[in-house]
Amino acid sequence: MSTKKITVVGAGNVGSTCAQRLAEKELAREIILIDVVEGIPQGKSLDQWESAPVEGFDSRVIGCNDYDPAAGSDIFIVTAGIARKPGMSRDDLLKTNANIVKSVSKEIARVAPDSIVIVVSNPLDVMAYVALQETGFERERVIGMAGVLDTARFRSFIALELGVSVEDIQALVLGGHGDTMVPLVSYTTVSGIPLTQFIGPEKLEKLIERTRKGGAEIVGHLKTGSAYYAPSAAAVQMTESIVKDKRRILPCAAYLQGEFGYNDIFLGVPCVLGAKGIDRIIEVELTGPEREALADSVSAVKDTMSSLESL
Ligand code: NAI
Ligand code: 2OP
Repeated sequence: MSTKKITVVGAGNVGSTCAQRLAEKELAREIILIDVVEGIPQGKSLDQWESAPVEGFDSRVIGCNDYDPAAGSDIFIVTAGIARKPGMSRDDLLKTNANIVKSVSKEIARVAPDSIVIVVSNPLDVMAYVALQETGFERERVIGMAGVLDTARFRSFIALELGVSVEDIQALVLGGHGDTMVPLVSYTTVSGIPLTQFIGPEKLEKLIERTRKGGAEIVGHLKTGSAYYAPSAAAVQMTESIVKDKRRILPCAAYLQGEFGYNDIFLGVPCVLGAKGIDRIIEVELTGPEREALADSVSAVKDTMSSLESL
């Protein structure tokens, strides 16, 4: 049992599933689950605690509507936000979620100034930027979750296509969390064997396209919400690497200061995640087309950042 304290903000689909996964893995003694809606975090956390005797964990999830119980948390996972509603423009959504992430970040800085923040709320790369600005934390302690999810989607589709274990697929997806993400085929292997020895270019392009549209595919099925099992698993894998100081190399949205030739922007890049957050960013070599695709992704993230600034 880890003695850490972790707070999950937003007790919706992603947040509550994160809390359950954290508890089942005993990654914290106390997990605080915060939401603005009264009763939801309290009810969900009690329900989760009642599953503890069956699942065999002693981590306690505590639901609340204020931040005082979160004081001194080591890690925050921010999943607060709203989904786009009919009649709402992308800019409306951007503004609403930015205001939510701003208020959440201020509270985090107030009650746990030494914490590490993992941002999940969308649009991810820009919400991570808002959290960095509002907390005033150094960049190593504000990390966006997207790459682990996008990579997991790519790996799961490849495993299905090849009829082999998901565990034997290693992949890397960089860039912003959106249609312009960059799955790196040159770094994708099946038990160390280059993927290109298994799949031809046409089929590969289809898998890449499915990965890029992975979030939308789930929304298409669910209709009233978006994915949460894979997103929560991804956020918890990042948390585990930090809690256990495992120093796993995971693709995360990090605030770049010259890495890959970019500055002042959150972008999905390979990071070593350890006890202090991002220990370092690994600048892998890219092919010409991969560099171009990353540049397109940077433009897309910058466009959203400028939309936010002009609102
Ligand atoms: P959800 O709607 O189920 O839950 C969001 C929760 O946030 C709600 O319970 C709501 O009451 C709460 N909330 C709203 N304002 C709040 C505030 N100021 N403080 C605390 N809680 C507040 O949504 P879901 O599915 O859990 O998704 C959460 C966010 O994560 C969305 O923005 C979604 O787009 C994003 N997401 C990002 C992914 C990624 O790869 N980065 C993957 C999946 C979801
Ligand atoms: C996803 O990729 C909605 O960003 C979310 O599923």
